[in-house]
Amino acid sequence: MKNLKGKFLGKGNNRTVWEYQPDPSFVIKQEHSGIRANLDEIETFEILSAWNLAEHLAPCEYDAESESIIMQKGSDLPSGRYSIPGIFPYENLDNFKLLEDRIVLVDYDWRLYTHKSRLYWVMPRWDFSSISDCAPSGLKVEQRNFSEALRPGEAFTPPQDQTTTKDSFVRIPFERHCIVKWFDQTRTIQIG
Ligand SMILES: Nc1ncnc2c1ncn2[C@@H]1O[C@H](COP(=O)(O)OP(=O)(O)O)[C@@H](O)[C@H]1O
Ligand SMILES: [Mg+2]
Repeated sequence: MKNLKGKFLGKGNNRTVWEYQPDPSFVIKQEHSGIRANLDEIETFEILSAWNLAEHLAPCEYDAESESIIMQKGSDLPSGRYSIPGIFPYENLDNFKLLEDRIVLVDYDWRLYTHKSRLYWVMPRWDFSSISDCAPSGLKVEQRNFSEALRPGEAFTPPQDQTTTKDSFVRIPFERHCIVKWFDQTRTIQIG
């Protein structure tokens, strides 16, 4: 396989990211953890695109040959204050980049899954607590055991800096009208 990796751009808990050698206006994201973050990211992009909510995400697609994600490359945000959708976790401001004149999220491996023909979003409690202040009123949040949302053969290890136990997760019905409201409820972040 030809070398697809250009300049190293960053490493998170789940993915390592390089410029995409054949076209440096894209990046290649290779997963090093076992939580199938790349699969979740592709699915999240497809669902939010179908719901006309993808303008705040850096577009991505799956490259089967390299088993990686190819995503549009964003540039680092200049210092300043920016408005982001309240639904986006924001502890790590390195996950927000500038693409053309838009601020976009580059790390969105949300765990969406269907159960009895309904779509749900499951996330650790610590993630939910970071975005719950912007959640639309009336949201039905359930406490669940995360093992329900694991895919076959998948192991989940909480980040080492988290003290929350492995089975403390929330499950939220993922309904378009409610998610649209959550996008519309913005917050301000400060860069630099
Ligand atoms: N599309 C992108 N454009 C520019 N930099 C990116 C892009 N995607 C990821 N990065 C960089 O790589 C880092 C790790 O990628 P990320 O998707 O956050 O991985 P993880 O899920 O492991 O946190 C990001 O914090 C960011 O600095
Ligand atoms: Mg990240």
